[in-house]
Amino acid sequence: MAEFAPFFLRSIWYYALPSQTLAKGKMVAKTLLGEPVLFARKDDGTVFALRDVCPHRAMPLSCGRFDGREVECCYHGWRFDKEGVCRDIPWLTGHEGIDPANIKVRTYPVMEVQGNIWIFMSDKKEAEKAGANPDAFAHKPPVLPGIAMDAQAGLWTHSLFPCHMDHAVIGLMDPAHGPFVHQAWWWRGKTSIHEKAKAFGAAPFGFVMKKHRPSSNSFGYKILGGVPETEIVFALPGVRIEHIQIGQEKNKHHVINLTCVTPISETQTEITHLIYWTQPWLALIKPFFRPFMEGFIEQDKDVVTRQQIGLKHEKSMLLLKDADTQARWYFQLKQEYAKASSESRAFNNPVPDVTLRWRS
Ligand code: FES
Ligand SMILES: [Fe+2]
Repeated sequence: MAEFAPFFLRSIWYYALPSQTLAKGKMVAKTLLGEPVLFARKDDGTVFALRDVCPHRAMPLSCGRFDGREVECCYHGWRFDKEGVCRDIPWLTGHEGIDPANIKVRTYPVMEVQGNIWIFMSDKKEAEKAGANPDAFAHKPPVLPGIAMDAQAGLWTHSLFPCHMDHAVIGLMDPAHGPFVHQAWWWRGKTSIHEKAKAFGAAPFGFVMKKHRPSSNSFGYKILGGVPETEIVFALPGVRIEHIQIGQEKNKHHVINLTCVTPISETQTEITHLIYWTQPWLALIKPFFRPFMEGFIEQDKDVVTRQQIGLKHEKSMLLLKDADTQARWYFQLKQEYAKASSESRAFNNPVPDVTLRWRS
């Protein structure tokens, strides 16, 4: 029995939002790990993130205006640049001897990779002393294999789960819930349950289900044509990358399912699911595919929503043998990451090379 003691990892990159949701000259306000964050994209395309609270009298900066260069607070017009430096206090006459540039709002490091914006959430003490320098940490946002660096997802969707991120993560990687939660004609049902054996090993800040031929009972794979091979990687803090490869060397195509878990608060978690592909024809079936993708995530959401009722009364979990091993690894990886960063040492991946067996 493991007592559930939730916490959020710090000093790590979290998924923030798809690049396409933040146009030039626009702002998006979002809460992450309980902190209000304002994302903005300058006219030159660069993205920045500020604490969404004006240091003057706490007005959300997102209530103000953005001219593509600086954010102006809606209350008294103080202006802040992408470094969080105050550039203007309109009421100053000059006799006060105050330099607005001495006033700063907290900034967050951001990075844009393959059509997604990532944010480095340092802890507050660290942000003050080390200037929140993410280069001091080995963790980086993931780079999707077989996909161009400037690619955008062909299809994506957001969903808000009413639970702590840990339950969302272990729910998404749980191999035994499929036949019960995701019953659908195009996927599989209880009658198709059979034994599986999958080889696992360590991957950067996580683990990998090594390359294999997916179950022949998955209609979802059949429509891709050819004989696909798939590899599934999980990485802290909550990223799952399913890489499907179809065809031989010269004529190889890739489909990537990227699932990112972002904690909004202790009790709310955002799941962003994005699909990338290299076969041009898949764009044609996009409209038909979206309802399936959304329906699938809704089923996961429904089940964790009902789980919250029981979790009010019981904090421990019985993580049993092979089918729950990935969930156990997740908690071990998290503990190790927190420990390694607090001790300023390298991360030691606790995941062994092993074959797990279960029926699903
Ligand atoms: S509260 Fe922002 S300028 Fe006064
Ligand atoms: Fe699921």
